[in-house]
Amino acid sequence: MKKLIVSGLVVSLLSVTATSVCAQQLDSLPGKPGHSFRGLSVVNNRQFWVSGNKGTVGRSTDGGKTIQWMQVKGYETRDFRDIEAFDAVTAVVMAIDSPGLILRTHDGGASWQEVYRDNSSGVFIDAIAFYKNKAGIGIGDPMDGKFYLVQSQDAGQSWQRLQPTMSAPDSGEACFASSGTNIVQLKKGKFAFATGGRSSRLWNGETLLPLALMQGGTSTGANSLAVCGRRWIVVGGDFSRDTVTQEHILVSNDRGQTWQAPIQPTSGYRSCITAINKRKWIACGTSGVDISNDGGKTWRNISKTGYHVVQVAKRGRAVYLAGGNGRLAKLRW
Ligand SMILES: *[C@@H]1O[C@H](CO)[C@@H](O)[C@H](O)[C@H]1NC(C)=O
Ligand SMILES: *[C@@H]1O[C@H](CO)[C@@H](O)[C@H](O)[C@H]1NC(C)=O
Repeated sequence: MKKLIVSGLVVSLLSVTATSVCAQQLDSLPGKPGHSFRGLSVVNNRQFWVSGNKGTVGRSTDGGKTIQWMQVKGYETRDFRDIEAFDAVTAVVMAIDSPGLILRTHDGGASWQEVYRDNSSGVFIDAIAFYKNKAGIGIGDPMDGKFYLVQSQDAGQSWQRLQPTMSAPDSGEACFASSGTNIVQLKKGKFAFATGGRSSRLWNGETLLPLALMQGGTSTGANSLAVCGRRWIVVGGDFSRDTVTQEHILVSNDRGQTWQAPIQPTSGYRSCITAINKRKWIACGTSGVDISNDGGKTWRNISKTGYHVVQVAKRGRAVYLAGGNGRLAKLRW
């Protein structure tokens, strides 16, 4: 315990910025330079998994003090854009691009099994999400005029392609694979996701809503959706103009039926949003990290360092971030 406190102190001294010390700040963790991380899943305060390009997965069981890095054999060129971890030894990773791939480990990453594979050309799975570690959903870019959906009923051990009953996407409407968080499994058999590109919309069961976010380009629209009770928040923007502060975040207080821009928005394009609790939310993107302490009404930047993904412990309060150049951090709050 003493050792833990001492090493925590060293990290915090190194990461104190020139400006005043905020109550909420990021402590950097040992990363993996040369890698890009967009997949992150936090089991509890000490256990988290991270995934990225070059077939790379990282796993920590001591709150990020040490991270065990692995390059999944046979998948060294794949980009694992999303990961869902169930405990210290069980996790599911998803690779973008074709063939569409989902792998699963039950032994802490010593071995990985292909639990879903689609060799069709044009497959591009963007994100996976789970409800209570059991019911899973995966979304991919539209194929043959329909959204590409896969589901699992058994914690990712097997997956089936779903035939979507919802209406067809617009041409040029797609999903971003920027943080694995544009889809939320609300309960078994019910999910919502947010799109971007030519149109940015919220797909919620059979309900379809336009989102007043930047759209019309290939780098515009919603990147991430987070849900906490009645409050839902979407973030995105234009990743090619990541400091533009207009039309990149919307808040709903009625489970996604109506949306408003916050009084004080986040400070630019954001690829990921997460609810730490009902009132405290965090969002990150290539241009920095912001926190809200009032349920998303007003936001304050806590860092100008870019991160792609931020997640809170499923059981616990720890918040971790991962991003470009192998960056990893933990939020102190
Ligand atoms: C996909 O391709 C791989 C490699 O060519 C092959 O081993 C596998 O059987 C194919 N899978 C399916 C489902 O067609
Ligand atoms: C927040 O943004 C302002 C304006 O760009 C900047 O001056 C300040 O340093 C940022 N704060 C942190 C903690 O990065």
